[in-house]
Amino acid sequence: MKILVTGSCGLIGSEVCIYFAKQEHKIYGVDNNQRSVFFGPQGDTSWNQKKLQSTLKNYEHITIDIRNRQGVLDMVEQIRPDAIIHTAAQPSHDRAAAIPFEDFDTNAVGTHNLLEAVRRSCPESSFVHMSTNKVYGDAPNYLNLQESETRWDYADNIFEHGIPETFTIDQSKHSLFGASKVAADIMVQEYGRYFNIPTCCLRGGCLTGPNHSGVELHGFLSYLIKCNLEKKEYKIFGYKGKQVRDNIHSLDVALFIDNFLKAPRIAEVYNLGGGKENSCSILEAFSITEGITNIPQVYTYVEENRSGDHICYYSDLRKMKEHYPDWDITKSLQITFEEIVDSWHKRLKN
Ligand SMILES: NC(=O)c1ccc[n+]([C@@H]2O[C@H](COP(=O)([O-])OP(=O)(O)OC[C@H]3O[C@@H](n4cnc5c(N)ncnc54)[C@H](O)[C@@H]3O)[C@@H](O)[C@H]2O)c1
Repeated sequence: MKILVTGSCGLIGSEVCIYFAKQEHKIYGVDNNQRSVFFGPQGDTSWNQKKLQSTLKNYEHITIDIRNRQGVLDMVEQIRPDAIIHTAAQPSHDRAAAIPFEDFDTNAVGTHNLLEAVRRSCPESSFVHMSTNKVYGDAPNYLNLQESETRWDYADNIFEHGIPETFTIDQSKHSLFGASKVAADIMVQEYGRYFNIPTCCLRGGCLTGPNHSGVELHGFLSYLIKCNLEKKEYKIFGYKGKQVRDNIHSLDVALFIDNFLKAPRIAEVYNLGGGKENSCSILEAFSITEGITNIPQVYTYVEENRSGDHICYYSDLRKMKEHYPDWDITKSLQITFEEIVDSWHKRLKN
């Protein structure tokens, strides 16, 4: 297959490129290192571009901005990929408020450019879109919650497996980022339903792994572990540090995409996270990291939570497992932490 991967130098994009290149597919990677524009030098992903180009013989890099409509239309017409895996985005909700036009143009309009290019040039190709759990806004915060010593959790049994895809996306606070991702998510579904294109939206929880260039505003686990190793202060924003995230290793994201491409469906939506088993609070993340590095976490507590931030979120994975029974989480929380520690050790030495 010819596979077009947008955001190819980011966390998910690079994992997907490596995964599918190993299966001898031809990979076209699109990335203009916009992450370094969004987040400054700490967010630079050019190290990953060099790595992909030097290690994958069937990888071709295209430095194009997905906001460049004509450029995107021409590129897709020329390549006519068999599958598109769209991971390029402005990924931070805090950052979106400072750069609202760039955020919407990238997340909503950039996605639309790609969808229309696919409809015109290769409508039979599968389109996988990385969406986010922020499409649910802060509605999960209004569920009944229970507090324990180290975490928040859902109090009602109907959510014992986590948040399902049927959860409301309406009438809650999303952040501008969440809103631009809702626009993209609905557009991807619409191109599926209206034009019969095999599309899916993967509404990610915390996607993580050793290839993340974690920064304070995006990539919580990667950034938390980096702070630990550098003995740098980590700031907890509100909720007593008991806010819960479900963490999924980027390889498990790639494995799910592989399953979808082998048996694509039309206009599907999945909540893709680590699920309850791979969930942890910030306080619990400190303990796991300290257990691996033996370095006490330095942190401060800021009373005010991030606007619209989830108190407790973990994905209900049952729909994914029902549609794709061969897929399951392969990387435990402990292994994921260990890999991130190992990766930062190596990167901080250079
Ligand atoms: N990491 C997470 O925790 C998480 C959670 C939920 C959803 N997601 C979604 O998954 C996707 C991938 O996230 P990630 O963590 O890999 O992000 P990332 O920032 O690591 O990667 C995105 C890549 O896209 C590139 N990019 C951004 N704007 C571009 C543009 N206009 N043109 C070309 N390239 C551009 C960036 O340079 C970067 O390399 C995003 O859609 C994000 O919203 C991520």
